[in-house]
Amino acid sequence: MVRAKNARFSFTCFLAVLIAVMFVITVVLSFKLLTIDQCNCPSLVPELRPSSKPSLKLISTKHRLAVLVPYRERFEELLEFVPYMHRFLNNQQVYHNIFILNQVDTYRFNRASLINIGFLQVKSDFDYVAMHDVDLLPLNENLSYAYPKQPVHLAAPELHPKYHYSKFIGGILLINREHFQLVNGLSNRYWGWGLEDDEFYVRLKDAQLNVTRPENITTGVNNTFRHVHGKDRKRDTTKCYNQREVTRKRDRQTGLHDVRYNVLGYKSLEIDGAPATVINIQLICNHTATPWCDCSPQKSGKV
Ligand SMILES: *[C@@H]1O[C@H](CO)[C@@H](O)[C@H](O)[C@H]1NC(C)=O
Ligand SMILES: *[C@@H]1O[C@H](CO)[C@@H](O)[C@H](O)[C@H]1NC(C)=O
Ligand SMILES: *[C@@H]1O[C@H](CO)[C@@H](O)[C@H](O)[C@H]1NC(C)=O
Ligand SMILES: *[C@@H]1O[C@H](CO)[C@@H](O)[C@H](O)[C@H]1NC(C)=O
Ligand SMILES: *[C@@H]1O[C@H](CO)[C@@H](O)[C@H](O)[C@H]1NC(C)=O
Repeated sequence: MVRAKNARFSFTCFLAVLIAVMFVITVVLSFKLLTIDQCNCPSLVPELRPSSKPSLKLISTKHRLAVLVPYRERFEELLEFVPYMHRFLNNQQVYHNIFILNQVDTYRFNRASLINIGFLQVKSDFDYVAMHDVDLLPLNENLSYAYPKQPVHLAAPELHPKYHYSKFIGGILLINREHFQLVNGLSNRYWGWGLEDDEFYVRLKDAQLNVTRPENITTGVNNTFRHVHGKDRKRDTTKCYNQREVTRKRDRQTGLHDVRYNVLGYKSLEIDGAPATVINIQLICNHTATPWCDCSPQKSGKV
C-alpha cells in the first residue's frame, strides 16, 4: 500500500519534472528563433562599429572617427584608399572606421546627400566625421585627423594639388557631430559635380564656426597629398533646367533633416587586411524641387 502510494507519487513527480523541462525547452527554442529573426532585421547594423584595434590610451580619449567616402564606380581608387588610410590613421592612433557611401541609383552623383546619409548612419557610434574624397591621400604625417573642436580643413588651398581659392573647403574636412548637426549638414540640391562644398562653406560661416587649417606644414602643393588620377575620369558638369541659377544660392531649406533615401544593404570588406564598410544607398529625387537630378535628353527635353 505504502509502496504503491510512493510509486504513484514518484510518477506524478516525474510527470511534473517532464512538463517543466519541456516548457523550458520550448521557451528557450522560441526565444532563440525570435533572436534569429531580430538579427535579420535590417535596422540592426552590427558592422557600424569602429574597426581599428584601439590601444588603452585611445579608449581613454573616447573619440571615434567615421571616414565618410562618397563613392561610385572607382574601384581602383578604393583598392588604394582603404589600406592606405587605415594605416595612416592607425599610425596617428585614431580610433576609426571607413564607410564607403556607394550611390547605386541611376541619378547623377550627389556627394552632399551621400555625406548626409553617411552621417545619419554613424552618428550614434561616432563623434566626428571626415568628409573625404576617395582620390586624395595624405602624405604628410603632420596632417592630424584628431578630434576637431572647430571644423578642420585638411586639404587647405595652399596644400591641395589642384584647388587654391581661399574659400575652398572640399577634399578633406573634419567636423564634429554637434557642428555637423548645427548647420543641418549639406544641401541636397547638388546633383552632378561641384559647388556643394562652396555652399557648405557659407553654412559654416553663417553658424560662426571658425574653420581651421593645418599649421606648420613644411610640404607644399606637390608633396602634401597624392591625387590619385583615375584613367579618363569624366566629371559630370552638365547643367539642365534652372540648376545653374539655384545651385549658386545659399540653400536654407534642405539638408540633414530632409535627405530622402533607402539603404539597400551593408557589406563589410577587407583590402590588404584593412576593414571598411560599404553602404549601398539609393537616393530619392524630388523631380519637382530638383529636376536636374536627371539631365538625360529624353527626361529633360534638352541637351
Ligand atoms: C570664432 O572666432 C571668433 C573670433 O575669434 C569668436 O568670436 C567665435 O566665438 C568663434 N566661434 C566659435 C564657435 O568658437
Ligand atoms: C607653428 O609654429 C609657430 C612658430 O614656430 C608656433 O608658435 C605654433 O605654436 C606652431 N603651431 C602648431 C600647431 O604647432
Ligand atoms: C612634422 O612636425 C615636426 C614638428 O613640428 C617637424 O619636426 C617635422 O619636420 C614635420 N614633418 C613634416 C613631414 O612636415
Ligand atoms: C609643383 O609641380 C608643378 C608641376 O610639376 C611645378 O610646375 C611647380 O613649380 C611645383 N610647385 C612647387 C611649389 O614646387
Ligand atoms: C517636392 O518638392 C516640391 C517643391 O519644392 C514640394 O512642394 C513637394 O512637397 C515635394 N514633395 C515631396 C514628396 O517632398
